[in-house]
Amino acid sequence: MYLIDEKSSTPLHIQLYQALKEDIISNFSVGQKLPSIRKIATLYNLSKNTVASSYNQLYAEGYIESRPKRGYFVTDMYFDGFKAGEKLSQTSKEEKKIYRYDFFPAQLSKDSFPLKLWKRIYTKVIDESLDFGAYHDGQGEEGLREQIASYLIDSRGVRCHAKQIVITSGFGESMGLLAKLVKDKYQILGMESPGYHVARRAFEEYGYEIEKIEVNEKGIVIDALKDSPAQIVYITPSHQYPTGVAMPIANRLSLLEHIQSINGLIIEDDYDSELSYENRPIPALQGLDKYDSVIYMGTFSKSLSPAIRVSYMVLPKHLLAGYHDSFDFYFPKVSLITQKTLEHFMAQGHWDRHVRKIRILNKKKHNLMRNELKRLLGDTMEIVSQGGGLAILINPTLAFDWEKFKTLAKEKSIKLYFAKERCGGEFEAIRMGFGGFSEEGIAEAVEVFSVVWKKALII
Ligand SMILES: Cc1ncc(COP(=O)(O)O)c(C=O)c1O
Repeated sequence: MYLIDEKSSTPLHIQLYQALKEDIISNFSVGQKLPSIRKIATLYNLSKNTVASSYNQLYAEGYIESRPKRGYFVTDMYFDGFKAGEKLSQTSKEEKKIYRYDFFPAQLSKDSFPLKLWKRIYTKVIDESLDFGAYHDGQGEEGLREQIASYLIDSRGVRCHAKQIVITSGFGESMGLLAKLVKDKYQILGMESPGYHVARRAFEEYGYEIEKIEVNEKGIVIDALKDSPAQIVYITPSHQYPTGVAMPIANRLSLLEHIQSINGLIIEDDYDSELSYENRPIPALQGLDKYDSVIYMGTFSKSLSPAIRVSYMVLPKHLLAGYHDSFDFYFPKVSLITQKTLEHFMAQGHWDRHVRKIRILNKKKHNLMRNELKRLLGDTMEIVSQGGGLAILINPTLAFDWEKFKTLAKEKSIKLYFAKERCGGEFEAIRMGFGGFSEEGIAEAVEVFSVVWKKALII
């Protein structure tokens, strides 16, 4: 029986509609017949109009269908996941453990974001230059694309025009879009191994075959790539993910030549190019390309904020027509307010200043972590990669009880990250992220870490 309260302020037909809906979701099966309007009206002493109006609402929402002369039946749309006992929990997410010392290798500290400045520009943008009534350019705001193009030309040596830039809400979106765009022509992606799992997964989703290509101290091994059937190759040439090596110029040229000879494509992921602490950032490979065969990908996640969700890619000119054919009917994924704020932030010179500042700040943190690790772990540790990005990679030099290390770290509220976990391949290293800590926090975190480390050494 349904509870229908005549004194309630909720109209009777709404009360009945809600009760029926609950009942259908929890107890009815697909194709089951509902009681007739007349029967419900008699049972609950309601007018037939009231009941009909509840049924109409259920019909409009797709819960039931009407079969002529036979009555109303539960439709077969969507129900399986909503049966009794399977209602979606409001607190479905497993509670996330908070660690006191989290060495996440892709994190910035909260206070490194230029909040005051951002707020000021944001407010100005809302007051002065936003049209809240309109849909905006799906490729990204032209003004922001112009700013990014001029930054890439000046600072990364990329050859591009704003027309070639597509703003996305992240690397995964860029890769998915690209995978879809070129899938009629290409089927096999060559991936650095170890490499960034998101790149592989995005292409796998579109049915590409993945060829793992080994990485050595010069980045992806070009001969191995040549021996493979890969037609497109994903690389991180300026700071290989996760090993940190840089691809020398000779290899860059040889890679370009190979890709041109097979009429293939290179995806250059320049994810943390701003964060180079020991030498000047290496110019992008895209700038060397004479054949229009490089798709350049960049992000604001490493130097500004991973929370604002702004990334971009530079498409070669020959892919632009296909891009517009396939994607012009999508609307932008990054909100106009964020895009415009970033555009003004860049146009007023704050981005260049911020990059300089963040490089100095992160260099300090990098050096502090390296020095603390050396001081506390000495020869028991080797540094596998340093000098850029947001993490230093280390390994033990002595026999090591890895299980004990992981268990003790957890007990001390230390969150660890291992290269193999995410990147595949044989390369292993502990990824000591420093970006998320304050300068004082680094010393404390490494101190606690060193106690755990020493207990895991087998001496
Ligand atoms: C190798 C690599 N590429 C790209 C990205 C950028 O991702 P997004 O722009 O989605 O924040 C990351 C982030 O950690 C990364 O590690």
